[in-house]
Amino acid sequence: MSKSNVYIETYGCQMNLADTEIVQGVLTNKGYELTNDIKKADVVLLNTCSIRENAEQRIYGRLGNIKTLKYDKPNLIIGILGCMAERLRDDLVKDKKVVDLVVGPDEYRRLPEFIDTAFAGEKGIGVKLSKTETYDDLLPYRVDDDGLSAWISVMRGCDKFCTFCVVPFTRGRERSRTLDSVVNEVRELANKGYKEVTLLGQNVNSYIDNGRDFADLLAAVAIAERTIRIRFSTSHPQDFSDKLLYTIAEHPNLCNYIHLPVQSGSNRILELMNRTYTIEHYLTIIDKARQIIPGVTFSTDIISGFPTETYEDHLATLEIMRKVRYDGAYMFKYSPREGTKAFRMNDDVDEATKSKRLTEIVDEQQKISYEVNQELIGTETEIMIEGFSKKSNEFLAGRTDTNKVAIIPNHDDISKADYIKVKIKRATSGTLFADIIEKVDIKKESKQKIA
Ligand code: 5AD
Ligand code: SF4
Repeated sequence: MSKSNVYIETYGCQMNLADTEIVQGVLTNKGYELTNDIKKADVVLLNTCSIRENAEQRIYGRLGNIKTLKYDKPNLIIGILGCMAERLRDDLVKDKKVVDLVVGPDEYRRLPEFIDTAFAGEKGIGVKLSKTETYDDLLPYRVDDDGLSAWISVMRGCDKFCTFCVVPFTRGRERSRTLDSVVNEVRELANKGYKEVTLLGQNVNSYIDNGRDFADLLAAVAIAERTIRIRFSTSHPQDFSDKLLYTIAEHPNLCNYIHLPVQSGSNRILELMNRTYTIEHYLTIIDKARQIIPGVTFSTDIISGFPTETYEDHLATLEIMRKVRYDGAYMFKYSPREGTKAFRMNDDVDEATKSKRLTEIVDEQQKISYEVNQELIGTETEIMIEGFSKKSNEFLAGRTDTNKVAIIPNHDDISKADYIKVKIKRATSGTLFADIIEKVDIKKESKQKIA
């Protein structure tokens, strides 16, 4: 058979984006061609997300749409990868007959085999979860990448079992890649000219390889490639160690930015969510981090309308936002997921109340982000240039170490991937506008000098 064209769409979190690159690696190794034109595809794959009901609805909608391609191309293979494959399995192949293939996150090595099965007229189903699969040895194929920043997943799965969350069921148990394989991948990326990597995991703080923890991994990566700026996500407050904070403080190329989901400001709700920390403990981490890493910033995830959430609980969430003063937040309405513990609780906060509370949370964050950014006016910081600003080629856009977008005037001597010291002169809640001071070398700058 001549080699087929595969088209892939990715939904959901950064882990899924990284997984798609693994899938692309598996397929190109087997001689498949990748296409970004769905009309040219022999195989259409959707790498899916189950985290909230609306994510799944969107994908079902898209499937309905893609199904019409089969009228002209009856042999077209349509497949579902990722969390929905794991969660809905039979339902997708039997009830929604449009799907020829369902392959969960731990079975991507066998994807070519399942595609062959599907071409032979059978349903390709691979949904076993693994305790060991990390795709350690598989080189991700970064197709639509800018050659500037890359994701590397360092651990897979989650053992936390927050009561609202489907991830432990769709992605299975926690397991970590070897430290050496991650360091090697970072080295290869640096050799190719990459300037930034984000180390990914559902819960990176429980990374462990032969007694070496996540702080050890970060230090090893930071030392291995001083020219690479390193980000990481996501941290769970329970596993957040002082050692990790000191490690971030020590290495100039580890970003001063921590995504630390709080979910709720109410201890009662946190307990029902099985988050395993109290707000008091959470605030201790924030305080310590601010002492140890000057200038550190935080972002968070918040769920509004978890079962039994009262108005007082909601006010407690607004209060924790004001106390921490997050630079940014991802904010969601609670969505019951079958199979989770919270699914068996009564989803008793009505839709209108959930929406109203969510709006208040979003407004509060908007206000905080604006204020936090106003305080930066007059200060100096460094940005890495990512390209032209979205609005005009007369401006360049870059990102601060703390993950904020900053806009500077275009300049002949400045190009993509340069580090520029800038002075902030104006700010909105989402963007900084700055003047250029000078080009800097990431290796020489020490964190202390950064305002
Ligand atoms: N409903 C709403 N939000 C959820 N999240 C996870 N599960 C749910 C759910 N059932 C949010 C959490 C998590 C982020 C990735 O998605 O805030 O941190
Ligand atoms: Fe889901 Fe909680 Fe694991 Fe995050 S830590 S993936 S919210 S179970």
